[in-house]
Amino acid sequence: MLRQHLILPAQMGEGVAASGLSSPAHPPMWTMVIAARSLTDAMRLLGGGLVILRRLSLGAGAVLLVLCGAAPAVAPDDPYAQARQRMVRTIEAIASAAGGDATPTILDPSVLDVLRRVPRHAFVPEGLRERAYEDEPLPIGYGQTISQPYIVGLMTDVLRLTRGDRVLEIGTGSGYQAAVLAELGAQVFTIEIVPALAQQAAARLPALGYGAVRVRQGDGYYGWPEAAPFDAIIVTAAVPQVPPPLLEQLKPGGRMLLPLGAAFLLQELVLIEKLTDRTVRTTALLPVAFVPFTRTP
Ligand SMILES: C[S@@+](CC[C@H](N)C(=O)[O-])C[C@H]1O[C@@H](n2cnc3c(N)ncnc32)[C@H](O)[C@@H]1O
Repeated sequence: MLRQHLILPAQMGEGVAASGLSSPAHPPMWTMVIAARSLTDAMRLLGGGLVILRRLSLGAGAVLLVLCGAAPAVAPDDPYAQARQRMVRTIEAIASAAGGDATPTILDPSVLDVLRRVPRHAFVPEGLRERAYEDEPLPIGYGQTISQPYIVGLMTDVLRLTRGDRVLEIGTGSGYQAAVLAELGAQVFTIEIVPALAQQAAARLPALGYGAVRVRQGDGYYGWPEAAPFDAIIVTAAVPQVPPPLLEQLKPGGRMLLPLGAAFLLQELVLIEKLTDRTVRTTALLPVAFVPFTRTP
């Protein structure tokens, strides 16, 4: 059974957070899904040339083409609005094809709406703006990446936020995921270990209207005790184990998502629910590839 979220080995070293489905080489209205029985099969199918995510129960080597629907009307003054609509349709197609078991096949409409609004192009380096709405991670400097839109949508959906929830993000990066959470109505606290990225995000977020997001530079391992407890915690770098301070800072009834596993290999995206009796339930969602969680010496 296929349970793979593939990455290009060459890109792992560049800090690819998660893999994408569509490629700039493919027409934007089409989404190609490649299914294989194993990671090895899938890598062979891809020939290492595409960044692709799959979570399908199809036969080996099946290739599925999904034709996306027509774009709804968008504001004429937003040059990226159409591209954002296409990005969301791609995300919906991936979720529908790749979801199942613990991962949703349909993302919450409020999450999709937010993805249609947040200007991802404003969170990537200028030279990469034209690729901002492809479903792929992109480099943001300092060996780090902005995550694949499908993964951002999936993680946001799985957190099941309600307006006003307090959310802690570890790994601010570009600030895009934080903006998505804020656009959804959450109170966002985000920590980034790379000083330059923290500074950039702290300037970018208010400039784009997300001034309520609180950005801190530091090692997210310790969480943000003064702002705790949190309704949700999202970690966007690969951790070898769950940092105990983060679990401590999660509210009973709260949800934490993190890519659990070794750096530079595939990790498992894991949902941790702290139940109201304070016991913990963990659910593995899908294999992913995130940049490593680093520590300050
Ligand atoms: C995949 S990127 C995050 C993408 C980001 N969420 C976005 O929307 O652009 C992971 C980020 O985690 C940061 N990071 C790694 N270890 C960290 C730590 N211990 N504390 C805080 N941030 C960390 C990296 O520097 C990197 O910017």
